[in-house]
Amino acid sequence: SSYDTGGHAHFLLKEIHEQPTSVERTLSGRVDERFSTAHLGGLNMDAREARAFTRVKILGCGSAYYSGELGAQLIEELARIPAHAEPASEFRYRNPVIEADTLYIAVSQSGETYDTLAAVQEIKRKGGRVLGVVNTVGSAIARECDGGMYLHAGPEISVASTKAFTSTSIAFALIALHLGRVRDLSPADGRRICAGLKAIPDQIREILAQEKEIAELAGKYADHPGMMFVGRVRGWPVAREGAQKLKEVSYVHAEAYPASELKHGPLALIGPDLPTVAVVPDDELLEKNLTTLGEIRARRGPVLMVGHTRPDPKLAEDAILVPRNEPELDPILLGIPLQLFAYYAAVALERDVDKPRNLAKSVTVE
Ligand code: G6P
Repeated sequence: SSYDTGGHAHFLLKEIHEQPTSVERTLSGRVDERFSTAHLGGLNMDAREARAFTRVKILGCGSAYYSGELGAQLIEELARIPAHAEPASEFRYRNPVIEADTLYIAVSQSGETYDTLAAVQEIKRKGGRVLGVVNTVGSAIARECDGGMYLHAGPEISVASTKAFTSTSIAFALIALHLGRVRDLSPADGRRICAGLKAIPDQIREILAQEKEIAELAGKYADHPGMMFVGRVRGWPVAREGAQKLKEVSYVHAEAYPASELKHGPLALIGPDLPTVAVVPDDELLEKNLTTLGEIRARRGPVLMVGHTRPDPKLAEDAILVPRNEPELDPILLGIPLQLFAYYAAVALERDVDKPRNLAKSVTVE
């Protein structure tokens, strides 16, 4: 059942392992291969309405916000609509301008996060249209929204979100595909994304099969006082969520930075005591990322690379490789090993993995 650890040491590990099937549930009935699009009846929006938006604004807190950043990237790439994510907790307090031609999307696993709910209510008060990407059916945020998508990821018990994060990213890929196909995304590109989505569950299984190696790496890096996480463009939200996961469950200080910004400040921190986890997909930014790794190594900073091809050992002494999907969808897979990395770092440090200190699963107060 969802409410016992099913033989796993912790709910967190169980939920990481559930992802091939929780992703299948998020995808189920929604990939329309015939017309190379996504079938999303719950959006309550016809093609003409879906074409009319000139901007997308995504709101959530914590991991939901980071998955929103990944979602914004997907929507901008596939649908070519300017898209941006913002913490709902900030948005609700800054008297935001609500625009009639912006599509607002609220993200929440629990559907009960008060800051996100308050943001939705503020948008609605000002006449904006809000969709929900929510896991818990019938929750407060789901009820308040004008339509949306349920993740169907199943109950998530561990405070640190894993399967809900991944399913939210899948939901955004479907929304981006749908918005793309009512605009300028070609049928061929739509077909490519449909096939990529369908391949993800088995590719997650391949990544989970590397659990033992990832656990060893986590044990090796866990005794450093802090870690840097870097990524560029598609890799950036992955780095942010990877750092978030590590600090939540292991209490190791983790800072995420765009790889491109390292030289504008945090490079001063780099040295033998501060390892870097670098998210480096084999995309058009590969060379740029490898240059950054060279800059880190020149300061004797240890590097663990997560990517597609084994790097020159001079640039990264350790690497975790994931299977390649379509470039737009690769970030979803690159995030999976970082969940195992955080989990095993927390285990090595004997932390209270499922209930980290000072945190609650859903924050229903201001
Ligand atoms: C809390 C949890 C986080 C979670 C965030 C948003 O802060 O500790 O793990 O990402 O709430 O939760 P939601 O249920 O809205 O996705």
